[in-house]
Amino acid sequence: MSANEKQIKEGLKMIGNTVALVTSQQGNLRDATTVAWISRVSNIPPLIMISIAPERFIHKLILESGEFNVAILGEDNEELAIYCGTNTAYEVDKFKEGNIATFKAGVVSAPLINDALVNLECKMVETKRAGDHTIFIGEAIAAHTMRQGRPLMVTDRLCTLEY
Ligand SMILES: Cc1cc2nc3c(=O)[nH]c(=O)nc-3n(C[C@H](O)[C@H](O)[C@H](O)COP(=O)(O)O)c2cc1C
Repeated sequence: MSANEKQIKEGLKMIGNTVALVTSQQGNLRDATTVAWISRVSNIPPLIMISIAPERFIHKLILESGEFNVAILGEDNEELAIYCGTNTAYEVDKFKEGNIATFKAGVVSAPLINDALVNLECKMVETKRAGDHTIFIGEAIAAHTMRQGRPLMVTDRLCTLEY
């Protein structure tokens, strides 16, 4: 990596991000993946964008099901973020192995996360390839507030992980 590329990479890390678990399910297959490239993009309708690399297991689930859930994590959920961001559903059932408690969603088939601050059920409305990621834009169609707390932001520790 050139010195310029390194500086760009370091600079990009200064963009603050909330950390979420994105869940999705298609048939018997389900996944919970840590996502920090996430943003609100419209008020009316309420739209959210998430940016996911095509090689992630969850990428296929979202594309095929056309829906996903965004579980905004709390400051006390850092270990869960690391677990779901360093393991892949190609190899493990994260829900079982990671003892992730879930409940059934109102509208989408994806499992919702008990430990999150809030779960936002989304229907996919648009996809756009952006470099080595795919931007999924989803409309929030239901919200489940689980508890009060401050959202988990990308910490120095999370920043050291490659994604
Ligand atoms: C803090 C953190 C943030 C992450 N953010 C993203 C992201 O925004 N988009 C993405 O594609 N991967 C992101 N990742 C990487 C995925 O979570 C990771 O590759 C995961 O193992 C993929 O699991 P899957 O194959 O089951 O989908 C992040 C990882 C961590 C630890």
